[in-house]
Amino acid sequence: MIDAADFDVGAAWHVAAPYDFLRRLRHERPVFRSEHLDAYVLTRYADVRAAYGDPRRFSSEGSLTISRSLSAETRLKLGEHGSFLSSFVANVDPPVHTRLRRSVSRAFTPRAVAALEQRFRELNEELLGRVVPRGGGDLVAEIAHAPSARLTARFIGVPQEDEEFVKNHVKDWFQLFLSPQPPDRQLALAESFLVYLDYVDGLVASRAKEPRDDFTSLMTSLIGTELSHREVVELISTILLGGNDTVPNQLGNSVLRLLREGLWPVPPEKARNAVEECMRIDGASLGSFRYATTDVELHGTTIPAGSLCLLSTDSAAHDETVFDDPERFLIERPNADAHMTFGYGIHFCVGAALGRLQLRTALEVLGERLPGLRLVPGEPLSYRPSIVGRGLTALPVEW
Ligand code: HEM
Repeated sequence: MIDAADFDVGAAWHVAAPYDFLRRLRHERPVFRSEHLDAYVLTRYADVRAAYGDPRRFSSEGSLTISRSLSAETRLKLGEHGSFLSSFVANVDPPVHTRLRRSVSRAFTPRAVAALEQRFRELNEELLGRVVPRGGGDLVAEIAHAPSARLTARFIGVPQEDEEFVKNHVKDWFQLFLSPQPPDRQLALAESFLVYLDYVDGLVASRAKEPRDDFTSLMTSLIGTELSHREVVELISTILLGGNDTVPNQLGNSVLRLLREGLWPVPPEKARNAVEECMRIDGASLGSFRYATTDVELHGTTIPAGSLCLLSTDSAAHDETVFDDPERFLIERPNADAHMTFGYGIHFCVGAALGRLQLRTALEVLGERLPGLRLVPGEPLSYRPSIVGRGLTALPVEW
């Protein structure tokens, strides 16, 4: 029987190529307790989807807060902010979730998202204008990040001169709350995080005085009626993370896959589905955490009330009962978009349309401007350690 103790999402091999192992888990141990995560893991598509769809039994309350791994000294330093994210929309259940989600969704209307496409195309064009003459570089650091970070900054209302500051601090707070760190490093990250919170506070205060046409102004206008000050600060901080990290990670994973499959450049009419198939096969998010609110019986295993659970969308996206021949990349796979890399149910990613728009547009522009893109031969690839996401540390390419 397969040894579920090998399930260690933080291990390098696990981030890079866990799929044979996950397939065996789906067959032999569809639900098991992982020592590494101190959590029960659901690996089958149907179970993952059912759990997402049942927030009464699988609660999001506190599920994002990886501050479980923070040292006592770091907690002391963070003070009241040690529970940061406790009012974030992805970290709460109805009825609070319903209220927050309604407010946030006001900013992500189809019209507002579509209006960002042209700007995103221009940001990519501008960047490539500078980068193309170099003949090669690191796609992750030099191409994938800047346009998404800049678009998100624009959307939120961060002035251009503060973008670099925000980028560095967002990286730090992601590491502090969402990836395990040694105690010394935690303290340095906590310091950086507090500086960042002050910055976001200042942004909210300035929009309260002088509103503009941006997310911060819209959310700030709801303080006192629909939202609290803290909820707005958490929303802004976290959406800056969503835009800074997840989309570039997914783009890096996607370009690597397309180059390895010999499918570069992607014909524009196939870009939409290619994005879905890339998200299915090399998802930038590995799953979502939930707490069981009651004892849950599943495939002969009892998940005790109060247990943390990982809904492994990474495994679900390779489930052969839903996706034929799941380890094959099929650019025209008809049900590629059935993946749950954006989650599912009431917490389904509110930025999904914006994420998809960016990925498709980036593939189109990169394909037009760098049709000869190829991997630098012999360069070993590695992934950033994280228990929630998959992203390359670097992707050396030439064109
Ligand atoms: C490829 C890019 C992205 C991926 C893979 C991704 C993934 C996810 C996932 C899996 C969830 C569900 C969390 C859960 O159920 O616990 C989620 C929720 C969320 N995402 Fe994204 N996301 C992406 C891009 C974005 C962008 C661009 C934004 C905003 C600009 C964003 C904002 C959010 C927010 C606010 C939520 C919480 C929604 C709720 O709880 O109701 N995401 N995302």
